[in-house]
Amino acid sequence: MTAGEGRVAGKVAFITGAAGGIGSTTAKRLIAEGARVVATDLASKQGDLAALRESLADPSALLPVSADVSDLDSLKDAVAAGVDAFGTLDVVFANAGVLLPEDSVENIPGSTWDTVLSVNLTGVFHTAQATFPILKRNRNGSSVILASSTAGIRGGAKSSAYTATKTALVGLAETWSHELGPFGGRVNTTHPTAVGTDLVLNRENLRRFRPDLDDPTPDDVIEAFKRGKLLDIPWIDTEDVANAVLFLASDEARYITGAHLTIDAGSTVKWG
Ligand SMILES: NC(=O)c1ccc[n+]([C@@H]2O[C@H](COP(=O)([O-])OP(=O)(O)OC[C@H]3O[C@@H](n4cnc5c(N)ncnc54)[C@H](O)[C@@H]3O)[C@@H](O)[C@H]2O)c1
Repeated sequence: MTAGEGRVAGKVAFITGAAGGIGSTTAKRLIAEGARVVATDLASKQGDLAALRESLADPSALLPVSADVSDLDSLKDAVAAGVDAFGTLDVVFANAGVLLPEDSVENIPGSTWDTVLSVNLTGVFHTAQATFPILKRNRNGSSVILASSTAGIRGGAKSSAYTATKTALVGLAETWSHELGPFGGRVNTTHPTAVGTDLVLNRENLRRFRPDLDDPTPDDVIEAFKRGKLLDIPWIDTEDVANAVLFLASDEARYITGAHLTIDAGSTVKWG
């Protein structure tokens, strides 16, 4: 592909949590389709973002920036750095998120609740506060994608904080689609099932599915994960989410706003 070509050619995307599994794959996918990316993550992840940049055919297409989504000022600084480097923002992928071990609601420590809400919900609120003034000035049709989850559609046991944040994003996307619509902007949510990243395939989470094993590996939970889906897979790949984000970011989705896109191998349908 030559410069100026691609499904998001010429667009500038702002991604939070860009050093993570879904964020880094999406950054690469958007760049491969002609975008430039302001890739933000925690200060502790700047080495990963630098490595991501160096892995690109054209490293200048990615600007690594430190930002903690729970801190509005750091996000505003990251937006300013991105606009300074690339001129504007067209796409925002509010992707930073955490999944902490939870329990029945009466046993969840307040600190767990506070951390999950500060990243997954307040972090998205801050991302909107920092980016919407730029998007409202941009008349080229901006696109905002909020990283929800199947937990944003159906609640599950021992997931109070995570589910609270991911369902809240559905309401925020609808509210913000009203706010950006008059400016030609769109806001949608993505709802992946389990993705093969550390967020889900970490030891602590695997033990929830195989409490009979001391040290379960991903292979030990394949059958348990498959049972929740219509298609015969245990989890999806980061590329599957990146492809959905690419579509929503592109002008192919120019009249899609306020929508909730599942990428879940049929799991929410299977649950009823
Ligand atoms: N992995 C899954 O199964 C799955 C399924 C559905 C939805 N999601 C959602 O997708 C998003 C990305 O998940 P992932 O699987 O790539 O996880 P990941 O852990 O690989 O990446 C998450 C990234 O967010 C960053 N982050 C955490 N706290 C932050 C903060 N305060 N400020 C800025 N960045 C912060 C982390 O440093 C990390 O790089 C999350 O919002 C998650 O809830 C994931």
